[in-house]
Amino acid sequence: MRRLIVAIDGPAGAGKSTVARHLAAHFGLLNLETGAMYRAFALKALAEKVDPADASGLERLSASTHIELEPTPSGNRVMLDGADVTGSIRDVEVTQAASQVSVHPAIRAWMVGLQQQMGSHGGVVMEGRDIGTVVFPDADLKFFLDASPEARSQRRYEQAGADTSGVTQTVISKELRERDERDRNRAESPLRPASDAIVIDSTRMDLEEVLSHIESLVAEKLGTTAPQAAPGAP
Ligand code: DC
Repeated sequence: MRRLIVAIDGPAGAGKSTVARHLAAHFGLLNLETGAMYRAFALKALAEKVDPADASGLERLSASTHIELEPTPSGNRVMLDGADVTGSIRDVEVTQAASQVSVHPAIRAWMVGLQQQMGSHGGVVMEGRDIGTVVFPDADLKFFLDASPEARSQRRYEQAGADTSGVTQTVISKELRERDERDRNRAESPLRPASDAIVIDSTRMDLEEVLSHIESLVAEKLGTTAPQAAPGAP
């Protein structure tokens, strides 16, 4: 089998992580969530009191920062300077800071280099904002997952569940819109579909529909019949 590279890009809440995780399990690929790397770096910037708008401060900080992703069946374990920060990178403050630190070209160049290294052997589903456009412009398959802002904030709200009791849907929806705006309009590699990406609008589709569509395209690319789903995959 070829060592495939599958790129999945799209805005927050479009279902990228869930799709990437299931796809990786189904085809025995590594799932790498690049957003978690920006989040881990944002967590460090906040802890070290470096302003997410301070490009040179962040660049200095990046020189002494070590970030690793360890794929597990339930998602990526995120290691920051040797410590597991997986449980600390999803709150609203870190989420906004991740989007803020990601506008700086030097930070992006550093992250892109790490991501290219991590995916260099292929056999990966890499998920983010610029995978098909910048990180792996020659990826075998590129998907751009989208959905209406309303559908995305509704899904985020449902996912948050008990974790964020007290966070209203209005707060989630505002947070998502702010991030969308910044991620789509930044000068350096803004969020947009690659010219050869397959764009899927999942506003009116459920996970099974999105997955079976993507799985059939991946299986076709591999030139094989899709293997049986791994345990736990839908
Ligand atoms: O995918 P996510 O929501 O965990 O990403 C958090 C932020 O990181 C997102 O708002 C923008 C940034 N990001 C990016 O600029 N490029 C990527 N490949 C992944 C994430």
